Amino acid sequence: MSTFSEHVVTWQRQHGRHALPWQNTQDPYRIWLSEIMLQQTQVATVIPYYERFLDTFPTVADLARAPAEDVMQLWAGLGYYTRARNLHACAQQVLANWGGQFPPTAADIETLPGIGRSTAAAIAAFAYGERSPILDGNVKRVFARHFGIEGDPSKRPVELIMWGLAGENLPVVSSTTADDMRSYTQGLMDLGATVCTRGAPDCGRCPVRGTCVALREARQHDLPTPKVR
Ligand code: ADE
Repeated sequence: MSTFSEHVVTWQRQHGRHALPWQNTQDPYRIWLSEIMLQQTQVATVIPYYERFLDTFPTVADLARAPAEDVMQLWAGLGYYTRARNLHACAQQVLANWGGQFPPTAADIETLPGIGRSTAAAIAAFAYGERSPILDGNVKRVFARHFGIEGDPSKRPVELIMWGLAGENLPVVSSTTADDMRSYTQGLMDLGATVCTRGAPDCGRCPVRGTCVALREARQHDLPTPKVR
């Protein structure tokens, strides 16, 4: 019997995204930069900004030492400018507190300004192969449907249930390689972005359709439960 994570890993390797510019590196600085840019901005918009940023600031030390106005100018157009200010502050902390080396675990990464639990885990999974769960908006949708979780996932109790599921469904400890964690983490993101989409889930292409509660009960459009407002 294949588990949820095995299906996701195998599917990611065959059908997931592989040519994104931050996928051909294990440099935590480059991965961190991509994850921050991707938090509220689409892949296609991010790519040229990402490349310009790295041309200008090839290392975290270059970014840390740059004047704030240079950083803000390179960010201009991406929006959500708090991200750029936090980015600069992070780089300065990595230089001051970590000797210019990106922190070695998700827990350490999460102590940096503006980096939440899911972003820290994604960085640690992609850079180090750490076995740490992610839970962003797309992944919440995948979990709400697959496991049939009711309630608004932005509400704390529902979110806590989902963090539990995210931890329980990681690739198993005994046989997981760093590369499995990279494929699994990217696979969850790819599934949410390309198959288990909000408006038009393409269940025929889903690697976990065999165990999906929402598909079995034809509730794809009722889950996740919409925000009450
Ligand atoms: N969104 C957030 N992280 C991403 C990644 N690593 N690849 C594609 N889209 C993403």
